[in-house]
Amino acid sequence: MRARRPPKRQPIPWKKLFALARTVRLRAYAPYSKFRVGAAVLTADGSLFGGCNVENSSYGVSSCAERNALCAAISALGAGAQRIAALAIVTQTEQPCPPCGMCRQMLAEFASAGLPVRSRTLKGRQASYRLQRLLPSAFSARFL
Ligand code: THU
Repeated sequence: MRARRPPKRQPIPWKKLFALARTVRLRAYAPYSKFRVGAAVLTADGSLFGGCNVENSSYGVSSCAERNALCAAISALGAGAQRIAALAIVTQTEQPCPPCGMCRQMLAEFASAGLPVRSRTLKGRQASYRLQRLLPSAFSARFL
């Protein structure tokens, strides 16, 4: 009998993810902060989804690029089998920006602690993180 091989892990298509994040960033609706953010997520089945930040005159109603990308993925594929496998973020800043706290918590719902997150500036500066570093001791359904 032949030994069964573990399923091959596909390499993360960072180039495609950043190209998508850059494109959707241009669609950001950010007339109040003028801070445009683009994000792209990779799902477990290899699909890519983008999101930009969408602001509101009632500032607190605004939604971040990362959450919008995540919601686009869930809306298209459903949450069941579709885990988030990678996240790319693009901002106009000098230093790469990590995702905000609310987005980190939302990512934790649909991704493992080892989720790779990369953030890049328009000039190509990059920072890499894992979700567990961004959100240690995360709250989850385990505690409910
Ligand atoms: N923003 C994001 O889209 N992602 C983040 O991780 C941080 C902040 C947006 C929200 C708001 O539209 C603008 O950036 C300024 O906070």
